[in-house]
Amino acid sequence: MRLVSLQAQNFKKLKISKPLPLSEGIILITGLNESGKSTILDAVLYALFGRVIRPSKMPSNEDIISYGNGEAQVRLEFDIGENRYRVVREVHKTRPNRATLVEVRPNGTTKTLASSVKDVTAEIERLLGGITYDEIVASSVVAQKDLERLIREAQERSTASRESVCRYRQSVQDAQRVRRSRQTARFSSARD
Ligand SMILES: Nc1ncnc2c1ncn2[C@@H]1O[C@H](COP(=O)(O)OP(=O)(O)OP(=O)(O)O)[C@@H](O)[C@H]1O
Ligand SMILES: [Mg+2]
Repeated sequence: MRLVSLQAQNFKKLKISKPLPLSEGIILITGLNESGKSTILDAVLYALFGRVIRPSKMPSNEDIISYGNGEAQVRLEFDIGENRYRVVREVHKTRPNRATLVEVRPNGTTKTLASSVKDVTAEIERLLGGITYDEIVASSVVAQKDLERLIREAQERSTASRESVCRYRQSVQDAQRVRRSRQTARFSSARD
């Protein structure tokens, strides 16, 4: 899968009215604290799955819509294999949310694949070969506040494995010592 472009209107603090091209390869997002860097990732996740990193439970519309506004919209284009897709999700304070997923043909015409919030998420998961939001987040996304915990856990794991290697070496050496002293004892009793 390749992300092609993102638009986000009143999605949390984002106001990206022209499609923001997402280039191939690694994308580095820089900016001041609280400027909305993590929100760009949230907008991508929300477009695909209707979920965000924070809040991690199902977000309410108030979590998504920019403070003081009545509605938000995200629009993401992405490629899977040779095919291009466009997902649009609209979040309303007073009306039910809407979502559509279309395939964009090379000549620009579109074919609707799903047109309800539930069906869009299910169809995107199907296009991704069954990968769900939880799997994407577990395998590819590290929320910044989790980074320290992951580093600490990795260090603890490596200390634990070093200790178990030391314990294993010690037990091999003990066994060798016991075997040698038994052989010596047998040898000396055979001589007597
Ligand atoms: N619904 C919302 N409407 C408007 N602004 C919001 C909404 N939800 C969150 N924000 C604002 O978004 C900002 C946080 O954005 P984000 O976490 O994307 O920033 P960031 O650039 O990743 O910051 P950091 O460098 O600290 O990681 C906060 O100022 C917060 O008040
Ligand atoms: Mg951030």
